Amino acid sequence: MLKLAIVLTVIGYHSTNALTRACPYKPADIVFVVDGSGSERMANFQKQLAFIQNFTGQFEIGRNKTQVSLVTFSTDVTNEFNLNTYSNKSDVLSAISRVHYPNGETYTHLALDYVRLHSLTPQNGSRNGISKIVIVLTDGKSNEEVLTAQAAALLKQIRDVTVVAIGIGDGVDPKELAMIASNKNHTFTVPSFDLLQTIYKDLTDTTCHTCGQGPADIFFLLDSSGSEGTVNFRKQLEFTNTVANEFDFGPDSTQIGLGTFATGATLEIPINRYHTKEEFIQNVLRVPFKDGESNLHLGLDMARLQLSESTLTVNSHRFVIILTDGRSLEHELTVQVAKRLHWAGIETFVIGIGNDVDENELLDVASDRTHVFRVNTFDQLDTIHRQIVDRICVAKTVFTTTTPRPTTKPTTTLKPTTPTTMGTTTTTKPACGPKVADILFILDSSDSEGPENFKKILDFVYNFARQFAIGVNNVLFSLITYSSNVNVRFHFNTYTSRNSVLNAILNTSYIGLGTNTSDALNVARTVMFRPEHGSRPNATNIAIVITDGRSRNPNATITEAAQLKKTADVFSIGIGPDVDQNELTIIASKPTNVMQVNSFELLHTIQDKITQAACSGRT
Ligand SMILES: *[C@@H]1O[C@H](CO)[C@@H](O)[C@H](O)[C@H]1NC(C)=O
Ligand SMILES: *[C@@H]1O[C@H](CO)[C@@H](O)[C@H](O)[C@H]1NC(C)=O
Ligand SMILES: *[C@@H]1O[C@H](CO)[C@@H](O)[C@H](O)[C@H]1NC(C)=O
Ligand SMILES: *[C@@H]1O[C@H](CO)[C@@H](O)[C@H](O)[C@H]1NC(C)=O
Ligand SMILES: *[C@@H]1O[C@H](CO)[C@@H](O)[C@H](O)[C@H]1NC(C)=O
Ligand SMILES: *[C@@H]1O[C@H](CO)[C@@H](O)[C@H](O)[C@H]1NC(C)=O
Ligand SMILES: *[C@@H]1O[C@H](CO)[C@@H](O)[C@H](O)[C@H]1NC(C)=O
Ligand SMILES: *[C@@H]1O[C@H](CO)[C@@H](O)[C@H](O)[C@H]1NC(C)=O
Ligand SMILES: *[C@@H]1O[C@H](CO)[C@@H](O)[C@H](O)[C@H]1NC(C)=O
Repeated sequence: MLKLAIVLTVIGYHSTNALTRACPYKPADIVFVVDGSGSERMANFQKQLAFIQNFTGQFEIGRNKTQVSLVTFSTDVTNEFNLNTYSNKSDVLSAISRVHYPNGETYTHLALDYVRLHSLTPQNGSRNGISKIVIVLTDGKSNEEVLTAQAAALLKQIRDVTVVAIGIGDGVDPKELAMIASNKNHTFTVPSFDLLQTIYKDLTDTTCHTCGQGPADIFFLLDSSGSEGTVNFRKQLEFTNTVANEFDFGPDSTQIGLGTFATGATLEIPINRYHTKEEFIQNVLRVPFKDGESNLHLGLDMARLQLSESTLTVNSHRFVIILTDGRSLEHELTVQVAKRLHWAGIETFVIGIGNDVDENELLDVASDRTHVFRVNTFDQLDTIHRQIVDRICVAKTVFTTTTPRPTTKPTTTLKPTTPTTMGTTTTTKPACGPKVADILFILDSSDSEGPENFKKILDFVYNFARQFAIGVNNVLFSLITYSSNVNVRFHFNTYTSRNSVLNAILNTSYIGLGTNTSDALNVARTVMFRPEHGSRPNATNIAIVITDGRSRNPNATITEAAQLKKTADVFSIGIGPDVDQNELTIIASKPTNVMQVNSFELLHTIQDKITQAACSGRT
């Protein structure tokens, strides 16, 4: 049996878009180690090479870009070319096509040792300070399992190395793949050589550690108050660099800034000052420790201003990462200012260090519970850096793909995004993908709700909306509230940028009084879904009615609902015991468009369902 192993050592951070170029702006060192042993035919070996060639083709090759090396082995190891042998793509691709099929035993350990001792040396082009991934591709088992395990373990000890293992066919030993790879997420299996292409994207994502597609602005806010001391402050700086190191820099990808707070707030590094990672990292380490009180609110305000002023692209997703080891001096102010940060659409992470933090304050400052991280000591900061980076990566992917996409014809229905099923990485896409939809929210603002519950509805709408790619070429939102009267809060063309839409949702005020549902449905049809108010002819019209009661004019509601359903796909969401199930059914376009929850607290439980229903469009 032919045992093939591709050991692919990649030095890189992650990519913004793997469709055209993989890992752009990021240097990567890729070492393919191809196992050419066994009795399988030459043809399968060639399929491997074709795959490697194809895979390599998506990278930018060059001295300061991605470098590629290839090693084959069977009974012996053959070094085909080193990382620094070729400096352009055409040379690398043609060298891959000249690789010979060695044929022989499967001494995987020899290959792993060779990569460690010779391929990954500075003399042969391995570059310092960049992370490394190793991918092993095999259709069977190595002859020397124990030695292979030892060699893999040694290889993985090299700083920044990650090993990825690919198994082909049914002779693969999953245990061995797991043993070779750095972790479970770095193993791939394909049923046959012909299906290698199916892991192309996931392998690329893994290789590049693909991180979202959109630009991001990240602001670090570090506690520089007296409780820290110079040594611990330095650890915060190092943490900042560890996270920063994971992103590619530049106005189109990631911009990072840094500020500190103590008695006052200091803007140490404006968000668009440094355009290379190296400059940023060097200058972070020069930031001095301040000492003083803990006026977190001043820092938060500075962060908000930075992220509001310096955002170069409208679609940039914005993050604040706050590190603190204590409680703020002005709790009330801190909470207020944090709210403003949230309302500005800035995703706020808080890392609380040690036992002196105020858990409740952390919760108030963070965007939500899932944005709070806790470590016991400064030395443990590093253990959470991966989680933070992953969270930012997911957010980048989900929330910022609002750039226009070429469309061949207008879309009239929405389709759910097809989830990635192969391999181990799943990249989250904006809900419905880049489809065009006009979504109107019709919110009950009657006195039965009360302001607290109304706020929960707004949170739901906010969380629903932020899953979408918002923009004139994607999804637009409008909103009306109704009680005794109908209030148009904003039209489809009032806000077209993501942040302004999300902001406007949260800023919707509560009214009280009656439940004039029929009038709301009438306004939806005759005012909201009109071209002069931004409703687009090429978009799917969706109306989502959220209520906790029954309308005071049921007959008129029936008439108006029938009319609205001719214009839009209508969903009705009922909250609590007082809703009229029958009326919900009358309002909705179809029975599956009706959803009910028992309380306002449970609204979030139907988010996925309604997203899915909305994305699948009218039938
Ligand atoms: C190369 O990769 C592209 C993109 O995934 C794919 O469409 C094409 O079929 C591949 N070609 C070969 C020869 O594998
Ligand atoms: C590569 O980077 C180094 C240092 O940044 C620079 O001096 C050199 O000119 C670059 N080489 C190429 C080919 O771009
Ligand atoms: C690639 O590099 C080689 C050697 O440095 C050079 O001869 C060749 O012209 C280059 N090819 C391209 C397409 O730049
Ligand atoms: C560099 O690669 C060559 C093969 O091209 C190998 O013989 C040599 O040992 C390697 N150098 C080091 C320092 O590992
Ligand atoms: C593997 O990926 C999953 C999902 O992305 C993640 O939860 C898990 O922590 C990863 N495992 C490791 C060891 O990185
Ligand atoms: C949809 O229509 C609007 C205005 O009619 C236009 O600006 C936009 O480009 C269209 N979008 C698509 C994806 O066709
Ligand atoms: C609903 O609003 C319309 C127009 O604003 C009004 O004529 C009607 O009387 C209202 N009905 C109720 C029950 O408030
Ligand atoms: C919030 O709404 C009020 C009126 O209800 C308006 O004056 C204010 O400008 C809005 N704020 C934002 C940030 O949209
Ligand atoms: C509503 O319609 C029903 C049946 O058509 C009728 O019996 C009832 O009187 C109507 N109610 C009002 C308030 O018009």
